[in-house]
This record gives sequence, C-alpha cells and structure tokens, in this order.
Amino acid sequence: MADELLRYRSQFPILDATTYLISNSLGAMPRGVYDALKGYADTWATRGVRAWEERWWMLAAQVGNEIGMLMNAAPNSVSTHQNVTTCQAVVASCFDFSGKRNKVVYSDLNFPSVMYFWESQRAYGAQVQMVKTDDGITVPLERLLDAINEQTLIVPISHVIFRSSYIQDAKAIVAKAHRVGAYVVLDTFQSLGTVPVDVQNLEVDFACGGVLKWLCGGPGVAYLYVRPDLGKKLEPKFTGWSAHQNPFGFEIGPTRYAEPPFRFMNGTPHIPSLEAAGPGLKVIAEVGIQRIREKSQRQTSHLIKLAEKRGWQINSPRDPAQRGGTVSIDMPDAEQVCRELLKRDILVDYRPKAGVRMAPHFYNKDEELETAIVAVDEVLKERSVATR
Ligand SMILES: Cc1ncc(COP(=O)(O)O)c(C=O)c1O
Repeated sequence: MADELLRYRSQFPILDATTYLISNSLGAMPRGVYDALKGYADTWATRGVRAWEERWWMLAAQVGNEIGMLMNAAPNSVSTHQNVTTCQAVVASCFDFSGKRNKVVYSDLNFPSVMYFWESQRAYGAQVQMVKTDDGITVPLERLLDAINEQTLIVPISHVIFRSSYIQDAKAIVAKAHRVGAYVVLDTFQSLGTVPVDVQNLEVDFACGGVLKWLCGGPGVAYLYVRPDLGKKLEPKFTGWSAHQNPFGFEIGPTRYAEPPFRFMNGTPHIPSLEAAGPGLKVIAEVGIQRIREKSQRQTSHLIKLAEKRGWQINSPRDPAQRGGTVSIDMPDAEQVCRELLKRDILVDYRPKAGVRMAPHFYNKDEELETAIVAVDEVLKERSVATR
C-alpha cells in the first residue's frame, strides 16, 4: 500500500541529502521556516518597536494554544518558555518545600537535566526519592506508585523515556498521586508529536516539553500546560512582568498575577524561536498524531525485526503499545558505529546505556530503515576486517 505521508517529504529539505532518523533529537526543518524567519526580520525591520503590540507580545500565547491543540489542552492553558528545565523551575516555584509535604518522586530514567534541577531543590527543603530501573528500559511501576505517599508534593516524570522509548502508565501515576494529594508534572518531550497525548483524559496537573524534536519546531520553545483550575490559583515565585496583570503599567511592588497562560511566564519572550516553531506545528496538526503513531509503530517494529535478525541487543520495549518513536539498538562498538553512520549522512545518535537510537518520523521511507541497518552491517564488517 502506498505511504500517503511521504507526500510531506518535499517540505523538509534535509531529507533529500541525508537518511534522517533522528527526530527524537532534532526534527527535520520544514521549508516554511525560511519564510517564517524572513517574516520575523521584515517585521522587525519595518515595524520596529510597534511589532510588540501588533504581533510579538501575543505570540507566546498563540504558539502555546497551537501546541495545546495537539494535546487536547483548554485554550490559554499552555505557556511558552525556552526549555523544559525552565518549565520545571516555574512549577517548583509554585510550591513550598519547607513543610511536611515536601517529597519529590521520580525515576532515574528521567531526562538528566530535569533530575539535576530537582536534586538542587534539596537546598529549599525538598526530599528527593529516586526510583531505580531494574533493566535500564522500563520504570518499575509498582515501586514508583508505592513511593508516592502523603508526604509527596510532586511527581515529575517522563511520559516516554528518552533512553529506551518506554511509555510510562501516566494515568496510573496520576491516579495514585491524586489519591494522596500530590501533583504530577508529565514531561511529554518524547511523546507529543509521535504518541497521542490527551492532558484532559490523563487528568495530569502539569505537562511540559519542547518543540524541537517530534514537533519539528526548532530549538528555543518549550511549553508548560497547567490544569485550568490550578492555573487560576497558583502563584509562581519564578515570575516577571509577563505574569503581571498590567505589565506596561510598570507598577512597583508585588505581582498582581494575570490569568494563564501569561501568569506562568516571566521575562521578554523569545520571538525568533516562536516564529520558527509555527510551520512544524502546522504540519504536525495537518498530518495528525494518529496517522503518525500508526506509521511509527509499523516502522519501529520493522527496525526491531531487522536488528533482531542480526542478534543485536534491543534496549526498547518489544511491545509497540509500550514503545514511543525510538528504537535503541546496542551492537558491538555502538559509539564508533554511530560516528561512521554520521560520516555517511545517516543521521542517528548514540546514548550510553542505550546504544544507537533510531527514530523514524512520518516523513521517513521504509527503505531508509534498511539503508541504516545495512550501513551498520558494512561498518561492522569493515571494523572486523581492520582488527583482524
Ligand atoms: C524527556 C526529555 N526531557 C527534557 C529534555 C531536554 O530538556 P531541556 O529542554 O531543559 O533542555 C529532553 C531532551 O532534550 C528529553 O528527551
């Protein structure tokens, strides 16, 4: 059957020149970004400071709404930031860790930057409990649920694990957290754009991620969803004039908080990145997460089959229902193999304890998976000849 999603390939210039299997790290740039950034420069050049009022100030909320639509978030519940670590900091700043309820529970398979942030909150009284993986691929759900108790304030977890692509049971985690009065921050960086995310169905309190991977939106834009009822009452202490009811009144004294999404923002927004994010979000919305997911499950299953045939270790779940868009494959000399693939314009990456990560997106051809695997065969053969 013809793959109808391949008609989008022409919108992504890098696909003509490379075998692009690295959308879990940086999604391919849509051609429309050239015009979006030229539009930004033209606006700055011709409208100057008037651009703030005419377009730029509201852009942070507009892009938040475009992202929100992809995860069934209510209008104006998504603020935009520079990166996920900043989103976590905004969330943390809404809470007080000096009381009895001060525990932070997460898995050691969280993205390290997020772990570094929460570790450092010990200085403010946070008690951090890290639940360890047994196999390096999955998070032990029962142990994570057991760790969430009446002392737990917050549970920052990844929806899809960056190293293995394991999908966590966010619904079960949210249910347990809510039963004991804790909040969940779901990092959807490795899910939104390739795995369906519905923040209302998951009943999650906060969700955050960035646009540069599966959303093809480039670096510099992250998003923070706050459940609308919480959004009305939380007061982030990491704040600034964007969060003020009257930012251009330049009032002295404490913040009078604006409504969401501005309530969760702080300083001057990152306009060029917000402009660059538009074309990617548009194409993902047009293709649709469901079609992307179906293709991703088919292609990642195919990759696993090809790798298994060669006896390489698969560090991702075999069950497609438990696997996001990436397959981590550990073969002999995986780091070197990755370097050799890059030299051949086969773009993948290597992560310790994972191996070579291959991440097809809606624009990849099935033949490209074979190209990458056969290239690994060749590299391994060359290396074995060289060491003989
Ligand atoms: C799950 C996950 N969270 C967070 C990040 C990055 O965090 P930040 O936006 O703070 O750089 C990544 C990868 O870059 C990731 O895979």
